[in-house]
Amino acid sequence: LNNGLAQTPQMGWNSWNFFACDINETVIKETADALISTGLADLGYVYVNIDDCWCPTRNSEGQLVPDPKTFPSGIKALADYIHGKGLKLGIYSDAGVFTCQVRPGSLYHESDDAKLFASWDVDYLKYDNCYNLGIPPKDRYPPMREALNASGRTIFYSICEWGVDDPALWAGKVGNSWRTTDDINDSWASMTTIADLNDKWASYAGPGGWNDPDMLEVGNGGMSYQEYRAHFSIWALMKAPLLIGCDVRNMTAETYEILSNDEVIAVNQDSLGVQGRKVNVSGTDGVYQVWAGPLSGHRLAVALWNRGSKAKTITAKWEALGLQSSITVAVRDLWQHKEVAENAVSSFGALVDAHDCHLYIFTPQTESLRNVF
Ligand code: GLA
Repeated sequence: LNNGLAQTPQMGWNSWNFFACDINETVIKETADALISTGLADLGYVYVNIDDCWCPTRNSEGQLVPDPKTFPSGIKALADYIHGKGLKLGIYSDAGVFTCQVRPGSLYHESDDAKLFASWDVDYLKYDNCYNLGIPPKDRYPPMREALNASGRTIFYSICEWGVDDPALWAGKVGNSWRTTDDINDSWASMTTIADLNDKWASYAGPGGWNDPDMLEVGNGGMSYQEYRAHFSIWALMKAPLLIGCDVRNMTAETYEILSNDEVIAVNQDSLGVQGRKVNVSGTDGVYQVWAGPLSGHRLAVALWNRGSKAKTITAKWEALGLQSSITVAVRDLWQHKEVAENAVSSFGALVDAHDCHLYIFTPQTESLRNVF
């Protein structure tokens, strides 16, 4: 969507994956405080997004009213608090008559609700797909874009239609990101399935509008350290929104190490804005995988991902990356934070643990051949 936002994928936090409906203004404020005190905000995680369950009802004038028990100070006060920290506030509604947790939806209330969000100084709207009366997303999502545009405030528009009706084909003009799949859950099976489904739409992502394979589960406990590292690496390479989904007030050192890897974040936020994709598979069921995509400065991001159950050497061949085989490449490992090869030629391989993923930046050393990218 051409509203000036989302020049790189959005980064921040969302309440749903960890808290579900168990949210309140204290949790949101403490999360904002934690994003600042941990340094995550400085790394780019600036959106603090409230998901479902903040609003039980409309008042007699038809306005959405925050739950007086859990958000007694109101959303405007919360926005002021969040803005005071240099962060941005996101809210949630639904392109249907109810949200997924059966709270009021915004279908046929688009203009009033967008004005209300703007009056609260909200910066971001996640717009869900439940109770949609069977009307296609293509018809239900544009009215909220119009309403947000007319609200007088520039608001990030996150379309959450779960991949229904192939949104990559139409949502680029409607929202700043669109979901390509059903909800993620905190498991290896869910994360790998979603990565593959999202991969299909790579060519439709770019500055202004991104494929959204759903929020991060890093830190929620259902995957191993290696699996979470793979999750974060591939989400970064796929130019997915990086929306933290754990309790940032209580992160382990490992969770923090993953989420704060500035070199991996830089891949995600690279100015070229091209979604990396799966470029080669080998082994039974294709479990040994190479994912790659171009970065600014004629560089490449390359992931070696082992989805098998034993450690294995995985090799990226230049031909799979679209490089001439004579090109020499400097290779930097973004998890080890060091150069691992100065002059690799024709291929680069490494031993990757089961379910782990290495992420590299390849910088071609052969000046005259750089333009092949
Ligand atoms: C849907 C969305 C989720 C979350 C829940 C809230 O399932 O896809 O991301 O917002 O609704 O009810």
